[in-house]
Amino acid sequence: MEGPTAIVSALHEELQAVLHLMPDEHQQSVGGRTFWRGHLHGCDVVAVLSGIGKVAAATTATVLIERFHVQRIVFTGVAGGLGEGVKVGDVVVARQFLQHDMDASPIFPRHEVPGYGRATFDADAALTARLVRAAGQVLSELPAQLPDAVRSAFGLHTPACHQGLLISGDRFVSTTAESEALRRELPQALAVEMEGAAFAQVCHDYRVPLAVVRTISDRADDAAHVDFARFLREVASRYSAAIIDELLMQP
Ligand code: ADE
Repeated sequence: MEGPTAIVSALHEELQAVLHLMPDEHQQSVGGRTFWRGHLHGCDVVAVLSGIGKVAAATTATVLIERFHVQRIVFTGVAGGLGEGVKVGDVVVARQFLQHDMDASPIFPRHEVPGYGRATFDADAALTARLVRAAGQVLSELPAQLPDAVRSAFGLHTPACHQGLLISGDRFVSTTAESEALRRELPQALAVEMEGAAFAQVCHDYRVPLAVVRTISDRADDAAHVDFARFLREVASRYSAAIIDELLMQP
């Protein structure tokens, strides 16, 4: 039998927006997490908060797979932009994932995950292509529907959808020195967050398809020009819910 789709949110605001789209959700508690079972556009769905950081994310992914037998995982959240031209309000859809703080050198090459012989894990190509289509559709419509005050507060004009390397680590990157060091070390990285690569490793272990979309909330530097809480509430959670809505509406 076809199992459910997991919708994983990084933030409370996003999860609330997704739960609004589920008419019949009911909750179940496992491992200190609340999982919401229900339907979204007729699809069997389990919605949950990822938890922050790689260990919390790996536990959530494992419970989704072992307990709820999810057939695919779609993750939405925010990230700090690293790549040139990756601006606040843009969206990044991951093609590959890497743990930027993985370092078992000199025993293993820098960034390689011991036991796997590799540093990067891939997103599922088919699910990711669907997510790119959904994100593109939302970006072509939603920004124009946001209040002018919100658009001008965050400088949102023509948001772009980027695809490529997403890097994760157990650190909120909030200094220019650190984001420059990451750019030097990993020039392909488009954005940085704290969970995606952990989900990717667990999904690799279990052969479960994964797709991740992140709205850029900051440039991972010391310019605190973004009101983070307001951005989550007024921009990122709306993007996430609209992208999930669009994704599950697709045939
Ligand atoms: N999520 C959103 N912005 C981030 C940043 N700058 N570093 C890590 N995770 C993030």
